Amino acid sequence: MSLHLKPLHKIFAAQASGIDLTQPLSDTDLKAINAAMNEHAVLVFRGQPLTAQQQLNFSKSFGPLDIGLKRVFKRPERLEDERLIDISNVDAQGQVAKRDSPKNLSNFANQLWHSDSSFMNPRAAYSMLHCVIKPSWGGNTEFTDLRHAYDTLDERTREEIKDLKAEHFALHTRILLGDNAYTDDQKKEIPPAVWPLADTHPGSGRKLLYVGVHAHQITGWPTAESRMYLQDLLEHATQRENVYVHEWQEGDLVIWDNRSTLHRGRRFDIAERRELRRTTINDSPEANLMAA
Ligand code: OGA
Ligand code: MN
Repeated sequence: MSLHLKPLHKIFAAQASGIDLTQPLSDTDLKAINAAMNEHAVLVFRGQPLTAQQQLNFSKSFGPLDIGLKRVFKRPERLEDERLIDISNVDAQGQVAKRDSPKNLSNFANQLWHSDSSFMNPRAAYSMLHCVIKPSWGGNTEFTDLRHAYDTLDERTREEIKDLKAEHFALHTRILLGDNAYTDDQKKEIPPAVWPLADTHPGSGRKLLYVGVHAHQITGWPTAESRMYLQDLLEHATQRENVYVHEWQEGDLVIWDNRSTLHRGRRFDIAERRELRRTTINDSPEANLMAA
């Protein structure tokens, strides 16, 4: 079998089948997945019951893995391998985390439109999210295509953002959610990453509107004006009809490209177990060579 694709939305996102992700990936399949990612930006594989090790093996085929904020914050973790990101409401002891726990703060931060690790340089290329346990209601994940967002900007805005840069700051979402007890030294440990607002996607060569909740400041602009402008641009990028809504089934693996899409989780009952496992490819020259 070889990769088969079926569109899931009028703009982007496709369901992918024909490859068993538990098995070592052939070079042909790797190239086919990269080509599909460049076109569709989000790929949904259903019925792939991956173990943690199988997910790591599959992911590593695409380039070096990213550990995101774990590079800076060390916390007790449930999953042993630091390259596995625990997207769950389960604490280090395996119990559903307390409603007001730091673990759930991360869950709520994931419910804001974002691109994984855009506050770091290098940033994330692909994220691969595997559903282990889904809750009985809610907890969808939504996606939007930033290339389409750029294509549908009016001329004036396109001209205005041409040379603008935005600062993406890791603690911004936390501060927004009321977790603001960070010292200046802690803030300095994780300085913002700066990216062009009008960026170019390496794989497809298409221009894109690189916004998201981590973008908290346009370089050189007054803060209030830049926050409002970034919010307007984010609103443009996340119009309802341009959003693909993923309803999870256990055993799904969803791959998205953080350089061409935004995503957010949706509300679920935080007292009910929801377990997903993420691996993330670092946007390194090596990964880009492998994707070429
Ligand atoms: C992520 C993320 C959203 C969700 O895994 O990076 O933002 O629905 N997840 O859990
Ligand atoms: Mn995320």
